[in-house]
Amino acid sequence: MASKGEDQFKKIISHCKEYGFIYPSSEIYDGLSAVYDYGPNGAELKNNIKDYWWKSMVQHHENIVGLDAAIFMHPTVWKASGHLEAFNDPLIDNKDSKKRYRADILIEDYIAKLEDKIQKEVEKAAKRFGEKFDEKMFRETNPRVMANREKIESINSRFVKAMEEERLDDVKALIEELGIACPVSGSKNWTEVRQFNLMFNTKMGSLSDGANEVYLRPETAQGIFVNYLNVQKTSRMKLPFGIAQVGKAFRNEIVARQFIFRMREFEQMEMQYFVTPGQEKEWFEYWKKERMRWHLAMGIPEKFFRVHEHEKLAHYANAAVDIEFWFPFGLKELEGVHSRTDFDLGAHQKFSGKKLQYFDPETNKSYVPYVVETSIGLDRMFLAILSYAYNEEKLEDGSERVVMNIPPALAPVKVAVLPLLKKDGLPEKAREIFDRLKYDFNCHYEEKDAIGRRYRRQDAIGTPYCITIDHDTLKDNSVTIRERDSMEQDRIPIEKISAVVAERIDIRPKK
Ligand code: GAP
Repeated sequence: MASKGEDQFKKIISHCKEYGFIYPSSEIYDGLSAVYDYGPNGAELKNNIKDYWWKSMVQHHENIVGLDAAIFMHPTVWKASGHLEAFNDPLIDNKDSKKRYRADILIEDYIAKLEDKIQKEVEKAAKRFGEKFDEKMFRETNPRVMANREKIESINSRFVKAMEEERLDDVKALIEELGIACPVSGSKNWTEVRQFNLMFNTKMGSLSDGANEVYLRPETAQGIFVNYLNVQKTSRMKLPFGIAQVGKAFRNEIVARQFIFRMREFEQMEMQYFVTPGQEKEWFEYWKKERMRWHLAMGIPEKFFRVHEHEKLAHYANAAVDIEFWFPFGLKELEGVHSRTDFDLGAHQKFSGKKLQYFDPETNKSYVPYVVETSIGLDRMFLAILSYAYNEEKLEDGSERVVMNIPPALAPVKVAVLPLLKKDGLPEKAREIFDRLKYDFNCHYEEKDAIGRRYRRQDAIGTPYCITIDHDTLKDNSVTIRERDSMEQDRIPIEKISAVVAERIDIRPKK
């Protein structure tokens, strides 16, 4: 699958603004870079994603409990976690445009162009060979594809090695050797590469008291680690068990771009699963599958996702995958599943001087559990859904519509209640229906404009069902239910609306 492209991405961004999904933050002051506000439809969609995640992690797993930890944490937390020392991005400036870039992203973009070339070769060959085309064999034997693949691998391994050995001079040399130019000035006149810490800091308490430097958390996970024993004891949990949390995280991203893909203030949905050492690989495999199942259960086709196994692992991990998604600007990380060993709990035990061990009643032994983490950005998931859902369709009658094929269970508005006309008692009957349905679903009532225009407006915000009240409704208490994607209409009794909608938007696995 290929991405929908930059044009489509621009349309999605303006659609988000026009239909109240997302606005630039403080827009009347020209906005704040990489910070966004969610409008009425955006807030609903975001809450629905959060709710879907929370229910499947906490409610559907007897051994996972929730937590809501504070954003501010003791400053030593960030020493122990390694964020103070190593949560850095390598940055580089172009001397002519004075623009600042992330060195790794310049290299990543260069690699993405090589990936694009490979993809184009594959598509060309697929067209040429038709049904006989064997993509795997083509990728493994075509000389141009192989040459580009080798080039990608050599760039990747040189970059990873340079970063591991903290050889920032070699990162600069790589950028120069690849002939990477500044997209703004077109020049290759680069400064040295420097490390830049991504944590925001501020002061807590008044300066006269000798205020403490504190940080806005760059990930929610540390709130879970430092509370692990509190939760284990108060909830009487036995290994394996998990702690789940949804909350804000902050990163002073150097290159904040691609809309809500990379933000400075964002939300994460993270779960740390505490396991007996030695069982982590098994649980890592479980969570990898389970998280993919979660994504697919919404009905987004599998071709939008790719599971990318990390070859080079962070020093604290013994297995890691990214669940990637085809965003309009390419295949990018959506979620990470990491087997983090006892690195975090071990570090907190050392820095706090407090024992963070688990007493295993079966073996009568105490040990620091290992952790398997699932971590997904709520905003990034939101963008993935929008990227999949935004579609422009040409209809049989020659007209066009923009439809958001948002998975029905997540749609901001589930049902729109629409009287066909603004007279003859139809609005009164429609209000009666609306007042009943609003206890079951988030509903819209709309009577302005012709019915066709009202359908289009609901399509544009992704409302899966429209209920139309007409003159027959007054006679036989039946309504028309219109389905967003197929635009098909059925006639159903008023008393069945709630059950019909509930059944159609249900996300439960079908028996
Ligand atoms: N606790 C592990 C952790 O934070 P990460 O890969 O840095 O790992 C996890 O972040 C997820 O958080 C990412 O997969 C992404 O979905 C989301 N994320 C990270 N940085 C982000 C940003 N600047 N803006 C939006 N989402 C972000």
